[in-house]
Amino acid sequence: MKAVGFQENLPIENTDSLQDIEMEIPVAQGRDILVEVKAISVNPVDYKIRHRRSPAEGEWSVIGWDAAGIVKEVGPDVTLFEVGDEVWYAGDLTRPGSNAEFQLVDERIVGRKPIALSFSEAAALPLTSLTAWELLFDRMQVDKNAEDKVILVIGAAGGVGSILVQLVKKLTKLKLVATASRAETTKWLQALGADHVINHRLPLSDELIKTGLKGADYVISLNATDQHFDEIVKLINPQGKFGLIDDPKNMNIMPLKTKSVSTHIELMFTRSMFETSDMIEQHHILNHVADLIDNGTLTTTVGEHFGVINAENLRKAHALLESGKARGKIVLEGF
Ligand SMILES: NC(=O)c1ccc[n+]([C@@H]2O[C@H](COP(=O)([O-])OP(=O)(O)OC[C@H]3O[C@@H](n4cnc5c(N)ncnc54)[C@H](OP(=O)(O)O)[C@@H]3O)[C@@H](O)[C@H]2O)c1
Repeated sequence: MKAVGFQENLPIENTDSLQDIEMEIPVAQGRDILVEVKAISVNPVDYKIRHRRSPAEGEWSVIGWDAAGIVKEVGPDVTLFEVGDEVWYAGDLTRPGSNAEFQLVDERIVGRKPIALSFSEAAALPLTSLTAWELLFDRMQVDKNAEDKVILVIGAAGGVGSILVQLVKKLTKLKLVATASRAETTKWLQALGADHVINHRLPLSDELIKTGLKGADYVISLNATDQHFDEIVKLINPQGKFGLIDDPKNMNIMPLKTKSVSTHIELMFTRSMFETSDMIEQHHILNHVADLIDNGTLTTTVGEHFGVINAENLRKAHALLESGKARGKIVLEGF
């Protein structure tokens, strides 16, 4: 099968940083299904792993954790899917990824693909939907009916923010303030329904005051958390909740103590990585999101389609993500 892989941790400008390769098609065992990958999307985790994972001598590392495709084979213990089903999933960080024509994935972290979306429109969503859903509803347990509460989402026009904003606007009564720094990303967030868009290149507490709102009860930091942390401490309301998903260096959360702010960290891969007893929740979340797409509540977050799945196009996608200027999701389709 065709795949895209790497052997060395190289800068994305180097043509060897991601290469077109051939591999054996794997065989489904246990609860695994073998999926023919039709479309993928690209996430910051892809370049983070490309920078730091070292395959054994002579081996290739195949990354990519967002796909939509068709079930080709099922393991002997599979009960949720049959050959021919159209599915979507993010996958497991500890296993080979979706930058390959065929991929094995445990059925418990796979959902049915929405009927209303093409494969590429669908591939934009699994990883970011799981992240946003788990952060909002499993970790922070936001009060969906609190009309008087404010949620601030920092770095909201990227992959995760584009679906998180929709979940907040469509499934809760919270007042939503989102941040962006460019005209293009500001417009994107207004179109997704943000009540206010403020600029994360300016002090966020001053920006929030300008909207007429008095602080935020929930703060979700999706990007550059260490850069915004002092402002978050300033603007979050007493007894508020703070959630983050990125990788701040040496962050000390103790300044949040005075306000008794609880801190919630989400990693979308925790359930699959540790095979937690509730791992099948990701199957349920993906099916629920598919229902919400099919009934018109949510929409795809595709920002750009980068063409077929090959090393050249994936290098372009990684380069754009590494620049920090993505709007919505980048998708690729077919081999
Ligand atoms: N823990 C998890 O499970 C999980 C899951 C998914 C992602 N992540 C991590 O979460 C982060 C965001 O992921 P993503 O997919 O949303 O990324 P992304 O699509 O690359 O985010 C791009 C957005 O970030 C904004 N941005 C750039 N610089 C910023 C800054 N200094 N402050 C605030 N926002 C800024 C940009 O807005 P402007 O262009 O308007 O400036 C842009 O729209 C990444 O670090 C990723 O690895 C973690």
